[in-house]
Amino acid sequence: MTDSDDVLAPLADDLLAKLDLPAKIRLISGANFFRFAGEPGIGLAEMPVSDGPSGVRGENWDERDPSVSLPSGTALAATWDRDLLTEIGALIAAEARRKDVYAVLGPTINVHRSPLGGRHFECFSEDPLLTAEIAEAYVRSVQAHGVSACPKHYVANDSETERFTADVIADERTLRELYLYPFERSVEAGAWMIMAAYNSVNGVTMTENDLLDEPLKGEWGFDGVVVSDWTAVRSTAGAAKGNDLAMPGPWEAWGAPLEAAVRKGEVPEAAIDEKVRRILRFAERVGALNGTPQPVPTFSDEAAARVVRAAAAKAMVLASNDGTLPLRAPGRVALLGSAAAEPRFMGGGSATVIPAHTTSPLQGLSEVLPVVYTPGVHLSENMIPVPLDLVTDPETGTPGLSLRYLDGDTVLDTEHRSAGTLMLFGNPNAMQATAIELRGRLRADMAGEWRIGCAGVGTLSVALDGEQVLEETVLPAGADPVEMLLNPPQRFVTRTLAEGQEIDVLVRLVPGGGFPAMGITYAVGRPRRADDEEFAAAVELARTSDVAIVVVGTTEQIESEGFDRRDLALPGRQDELVAAVAAVNPRTIVVVNSGSPVEMPWRDDVAAVLLTWFPGQEFGTALADVLTGAAEPGGRLPTTWPKTMADVPVLDTKPGPDNALPYSEGIHIGYRAWLKSGVAPAYPFGHGLGYTSWELSGLEVSGRTATLTVTNTGDRPGRQVVQAYLSRERSAVDRPVRWLSGFAVVEAGAGESVTATIELPKRSFQHWTEKGWTIEPGSFTLHVGTSVLALPLSAEIG
Ligand code: BGC
Repeated sequence: MTDSDDVLAPLADDLLAKLDLPAKIRLISGANFFRFAGEPGIGLAEMPVSDGPSGVRGENWDERDPSVSLPSGTALAATWDRDLLTEIGALIAAEARRKDVYAVLGPTINVHRSPLGGRHFECFSEDPLLTAEIAEAYVRSVQAHGVSACPKHYVANDSETERFTADVIADERTLRELYLYPFERSVEAGAWMIMAAYNSVNGVTMTENDLLDEPLKGEWGFDGVVVSDWTAVRSTAGAAKGNDLAMPGPWEAWGAPLEAAVRKGEVPEAAIDEKVRRILRFAERVGALNGTPQPVPTFSDEAAARVVRAAAAKAMVLASNDGTLPLRAPGRVALLGSAAAEPRFMGGGSATVIPAHTTSPLQGLSEVLPVVYTPGVHLSENMIPVPLDLVTDPETGTPGLSLRYLDGDTVLDTEHRSAGTLMLFGNPNAMQATAIELRGRLRADMAGEWRIGCAGVGTLSVALDGEQVLEETVLPAGADPVEMLLNPPQRFVTRTLAEGQEIDVLVRLVPGGGFPAMGITYAVGRPRRADDEEFAAAVELARTSDVAIVVVGTTEQIESEGFDRRDLALPGRQDELVAAVAAVNPRTIVVVNSGSPVEMPWRDDVAAVLLTWFPGQEFGTALADVLTGAAEPGGRLPTTWPKTMADVPVLDTKPGPDNALPYSEGIHIGYRAWLKSGVAPAYPFGHGLGYTSWELSGLEVSGRTATLTVTNTGDRPGRQVVQAYLSRERSAVDRPVRWLSGFAVVEAGAGESVTATIELPKRSFQHWTEKGWTIEPGSFTLHVGTSVLALPLSAEIG
């Protein structure tokens, strides 16, 4: 970058000269949980930021200020659609502005190394090129509207087990070709901020790692802000090398100790100046320095819902179909699986947002099909946050709950709230309170044995009709704080209630465990039929229906931030339910609601399998569109789906006793590793069916551009993702059998032929050596088709 490209250059020295050392250090230590510090004296506003990979939660975790919930990472990547990302980026920017935040902490561009990775759902793909393409489109489109993106987590934070201390051991070629590449492309796309990860790489924690200097700031010329992942700064001088901003703020290791280190000459003041320069440049870009943020497009609720609905349908991958889909005017449809009524719209952890409304498969399908629902299985013993239609705030007499903040006997504040789970991050009353209480009068909408209880960290108690029935102290046992906060253990009592009976419930939490923020849940579990009775009812309904749709999925307890999955099995009796239903109804469609691969032992015994990921708030309507054929299932797999966990070539995410997590497979992850192992997966990378048929022909190559004719040979319009892979027969270099080089999305009407043009970036011909990027002389073979295993066309190139 030259000075003339630098939006800040003319101003920086003047502004810096106005700041003394403590002021500079304040600017690089954060203001609070989700706010970068400001400095009114130089016209610099405080800068709120928000988590943002799948929607913009805002500074607070508060149902009174809801957010649009977008499809999560795997879903966005499954669209392979850069243009769609442009629309999604505009929506994210609009949400950011509506929430008054200057930056969104996303996209998450770590790589699917193992399907066990807890944040797999949040990341895009097992392929670095696809990850990079989607990341680039995301960054460009969000920042085109003056809102900063923040690609994260730099680098090799590809699993969650011991994520604060895991030490990834990887050689430089592996890092460059797989894990750094999406960050490199994000920098090329102009990212204004990058988040340094919790983990170490080759022995050094990422907030202190030389990788922040080279290649990030040096070779790639990144001129934005390196912000630490939340709490990832662990030292004063060490982290003051490449990391620019410590969050959340004010971060103790960087306040007075950093000032002292500068005064003692342990950290040069010039290094602090450089960080402040970067923060000022960032502020200038987002409109926080003597300016106002750039106007952004606005989306009505309906417009936002339309974008999310279309994106969710474009992301759904039809893995198999015997012709049952799309459904044409079926008779009775048995809708089964508890995930049909209580699905997962999004993944758990910091990607969580609170949408104003959601549409479940049960709601969406009931609009368009003659659906009869019964769950068949209960996914876990867990209770749910008390539904709003069952609870009345005793203070206002309206649906909802009353939240009281107490300091001893003094009531600091009372709020009317509309959610059974409350996260009180950064809330000043919550910070001051010695106890919080959630009260609501529960109305039983069915007779039977109810579970009534709570979840939180600290001393929890529950009173029913004024009588204390439970008290217990629940403290974190060394677990990840995010996991403990978002997924704390539940405690409950049981009460037999008549239909319509009401009972006063008071849940009280005295916070504990040294948590800086609090979460409290008032939870209930409705009466349930005995498991076998429930199961039998579902099978009977399927037997007597025209079509059976079974919605299966993971739970927040097995797939979320803060921990890795233990296995790839669907929880509970879901596999058993699908098998039993398929045995009595040949028209069984399975809808899989998980953010990452699951085993599907019944997959060849059912009529169709549709993979929906975590599709965002419009799940039900998008699903209805796809099942009825109003929309095509547009998705293609961004990651390989195994038959069984035992087949997965790269699986282990557990660091050894010395914290080391060796990436000993090198460049062979994902489909590259599958091809090397020779084992067939359930569904290969790139795979996905639509509702029409295609023929590819006439592949031609000119320079690094491939063109071909794509003919829709079916009887309805469709969308296809044409993929190009390279291979190299006789190579002196260790290479994958083949690797993705480029792709194009085409649409064509029935019988229509269109030309697909695929640009093949130079980088996909290069490999990393000690001397840098190199192209091996000689030619490569280009393979073109519709998945890594379906490649009918080829040509020599190079
Ligand atoms: C996560 C980040 C997130 C941050 C703030 C961390 O625990 O790893 O992805 O942006 O929290 O919520």
